[in-house]
Amino acid sequence: MTSFELRKQFLSFFKKNNHIVVPSSSLIPDDPSVLLTSAGMQQFKSYYTGAADPMVSPHLSLKGKPIGGVNVVSIQKSFRTSDIDEVGDESHLTFFEMMGNFSFGGYFKEEAIKYAKEFLDSIDITIDYVTVFKGDKDVPKDEESIKIWNELGFSQEKGNLKLENKEENFWGPTGSEGPCGPTTEIFVNGVEVWNIVFNEYYCGADGKLTKLKKSGIDTGMGLERLSMVSQEKKIIFETDLFKPIADAVPSSLDERVKRVCADHARSIVFLVGDGIRPSNKEAGYILRRLMRRVLVYENLYKDDGYDTLPLLKKAVEMFSEFYSEIKEDDIISVFSQEKTKFQTTLAKGLKELERVDSLDAKSAFRLYESFGLPYEIIKELGGKKAESLVQEDFDEQLDKHREISRAGQERKFGGHGLLLDTGELKAADEEELNIVTRLHTATHLLQAALREVLGNEVEQAGSDITADRTRFDFTFERKLNDKEVKAVEDLVNKAIKDNLKVEEKEMSYQDAIKTQALHFAKEKYPATVKVYSMGTFSKELCGGPHVSQTKEIGKFKIAKQESVAAGVRRIRGIIEEA
Ligand code: SER
Repeated sequence: MTSFELRKQFLSFFKKNNHIVVPSSSLIPDDPSVLLTSAGMQQFKSYYTGAADPMVSPHLSLKGKPIGGVNVVSIQKSFRTSDIDEVGDESHLTFFEMMGNFSFGGYFKEEAIKYAKEFLDSIDITIDYVTVFKGDKDVPKDEESIKIWNELGFSQEKGNLKLENKEENFWGPTGSEGPCGPTTEIFVNGVEVWNIVFNEYYCGADGKLTKLKKSGIDTGMGLERLSMVSQEKKIIFETDLFKPIADAVPSSLDERVKRVCADHARSIVFLVGDGIRPSNKEAGYILRRLMRRVLVYENLYKDDGYDTLPLLKKAVEMFSEFYSEIKEDDIISVFSQEKTKFQTTLAKGLKELERVDSLDAKSAFRLYESFGLPYEIIKELGGKKAESLVQEDFDEQLDKHREISRAGQERKFGGHGLLLDTGELKAADEEELNIVTRLHTATHLLQAALREVLGNEVEQAGSDITADRTRFDFTFERKLNDKEVKAVEDLVNKAIKDNLKVEEKEMSYQDAIKTQALHFAKEKYPATVKVYSMGTFSKELCGGPHVSQTKEIGKFKIAKQESVAAGVRRIRGIIEEA
């Protein structure tokens, strides 16, 4: 069956059996304990614990409407960073579509197992064998599942039911804590296709299991693997989900390189589609690694005619039909920008890689830091020289460096007041520094505008600036209405248009206070401080850095507002090129 048909059949089977279809949530999770969405159940975590009620609680992927039922079905965009290094073999992937049916107290083992068997029968797939949890000191053997499978013709005697330990047949939690439980898994042609989790426990951050009030069902079946068995392919990259993309790689290239490029192209399309942009941290860093890896291949195999763009275009063509957030223009422009940025340093980095005698974590990290060569590339192209290099040691260097650079930045930016205790600016390189500087000046204008529109009770409660946005917290009781949002934006943009000069004056703290410059009453300032002012519109005590004229900021927009605590609101502001 085609993957198109499998998606359709899956949803309609469960719909017919009283499940509500819920759209995939974004790859950027709502759950701060994970970097990217890695399982179908993530958007439903709070229904298992009872923290949310599917009948009344607003649900994000339903535009804030409640689910309105306890049984749901979805096809979830998922990404597993843990598998990045395995990609290139026959079955590992980074991005995949996870099909799943879920129940929050509606049904349990019997229905879940029977649905799975019935669905696979309906699409002509024969189960090889199943596995069931054999029990350990904390969780008993799953006798109930054994009995249900026995009735369906599976047993240990026949050899098509196996008992497995916790390593194999216990799932979760995602992130540091959450629902989890024993599983039963279904194997077809030696491939695990369906994982059925019986969410009976809550695993705390300390690893302790407590029984959930209501048991739930969480199942996951990767569309790619199901397509592989349904389309009788031995290799996942030969299914219709990959073949057209892999075919855009010149046939002279190594099979493994071809697979990496096909996998990464698909992942890039989905990550950019969900609004992730390459950067040096978190999800942005994952995207950057994927992009740079294919860019290195472009560089190495240009004489063979390898180019990533046709792969990206193919992936867009294949998936934008189901995922409307995928926009070709965005993907091409984000990828091209990263390419331009990376090209200048790549050639030098490759030369340096050739020059060094051996590669340990430290020297590998230097290559990353100076030339932006990602770990995978160093490992791969380093060959014998990089034999002893392992990811953990490299990551350790990366973490160390991040701490040092944070401390360094605080020094660079004046190291007092705003930046140390109540706010933070984060930039990884000169380019990011330029953006955060513009956002920083915009943040001063934002505070002034908020006070003008909402009144002088508005006071800064914190700020955090990265290259993506400024996050400004301030004291105020309620959400701003649309009119107020617009008035604030307009005031900031007017101050930008007026191209005010940003003046910096050093003076004693006592004199600074007399000028009525905004400052934190509770903050300890040094004897000499800097006051930054822009016309008569804004005046603040601050360590800088700032642009010299407000026009440099570009256009300012309020992207989001939310509540942080009682009486404290948060605004996320962004800038666009004017
Ligand atoms: N949460 C389980 C998994 O991701 C089943 O959906 O495999």
